[in-house]
Amino acid sequence: MSTLRYSEIAGVGHYVPERVVTNADIEQLMETTDAWIQERTGIKERRWFTEGVDTTANMGAKAARRALEAAGLTPDDVQLIVFATLSPDYFFPGSGVLLQRELGMKEATPAFDVRNQCSGFIYSLSMADQFIKTGMYDTVLVVGSEIHSSGLDKSTRGRAVSVIFGDGAGAVVLRPSTQEGHGILSTHLHSQGEHAEELIVKEPGSNREGRVDYAIAHEPDMYPYMNGQNVFKHAVVRFPQVIKEALDQNGMQPQDIDMLIPHQANLRITQYVQQKMGLSDDKIFSNIQRYGNTTAASIPIALSEAVQEGKVKRGDLVCLAAFGSGFTWASALIKW
Ligand SMILES: CC(C)(COP(=O)(O)OP(=O)(O)OC[C@H]1O[C@@H](n2cnc3c(N)ncnc32)[C@H](O)[C@@H]1OP(=O)(O)O)[C@@H](O)C(=O)NCCC(=O)NCCS
Repeated sequence: MSTLRYSEIAGVGHYVPERVVTNADIEQLMETTDAWIQERTGIKERRWFTEGVDTTANMGAKAARRALEAAGLTPDDVQLIVFATLSPDYFFPGSGVLLQRELGMKEATPAFDVRNQCSGFIYSLSMADQFIKTGMYDTVLVVGSEIHSSGLDKSTRGRAVSVIFGDGAGAVVLRPSTQEGHGILSTHLHSQGEHAEELIVKEPGSNREGRVDYAIAHEPDMYPYMNGQNVFKHAVVRFPQVIKEALDQNGMQPQDIDMLIPHQANLRITQYVQQKMGLSDDKIFSNIQRYGNTTAASIPIALSEAVQEGKVKRGDLVCLAAFGSGFTWASALIKW
């Protein structure tokens, strides 16, 4: 009989497109101001992809190579790919198989795509964790990658949404823990589909005849719609709730957290969560100022920067938490 194993993050990496788009650049496209954007969201600049250079899959592959390198592994060591994105390269197939090709993997490595928007990375991490816990795989690559900028309404009509989102990718490699009590302690996943239309890209939807013609006729529905105030209201409840759920399951308190890495939704949401959990400034990580909200990529990009900057060290208790479209929300508690 096999004993339960834990998975740990053996390597983390990220990649963001080279093109920096500041709030001043956005002011040229729509009626908005740097002051409005910073005050409401904390964002100063974000990255936008370059057509012909960046793709959702190849950005994910670049992040993955860095994560594998950090773990001392190569693409051929990977036994499973879990790829989180709401902006896949194609309607189908998913971006996981494109990443498998992009990394030049010799093995016919299996690949999942996970469609859980802002919670997509934690959902994927949880999935990967189960495969390692059961012993089915030893090396799992989890990737979050997004290209938002090609699908935003960059006119004044879309300004409440378009100023928030950015492009980028992050990745982690999971391996069985080499030390007892280290690794992913627990993951917690939730959804509430009654709010599905509160943060949505509706078209092209599949439940109508003449899908593409319909989508063209309903052009605004091709762009993301967000009921910002309702998303905010739910986010500030669900973030603390799902963090507490993780702490309770492990018999821990907020003061045990060494680093909280929330999905970078909005700096005001992060600040609210920080205050609610009673965490000092050095125990919460924010980089939304530089990247905007990169959805499934935001947590692995933040984690990668936190590790690079020495803000996450071996033995630290790291908490990941996310909330977003679906609504979906999730957390993970990790002994680093
Ligand atoms: C999106 C968000 C920043 C908007 O802030 P808000 O205070 O709710 O703003 P409102 O939508 O009420 O709009 C207030 C005014 O600002 C205007 N406005 C909206 N976007 C603007 C922009 N980019 N620049 C300037 N003005 C803007 C609106 O038109 C409105 O003008 P009016 O009062 O003349 O009608 C806010 O709702 C929010 O942070 N929501 C959570 C979003 C989030 O985190 N999403 C990711 C979840 S994963």
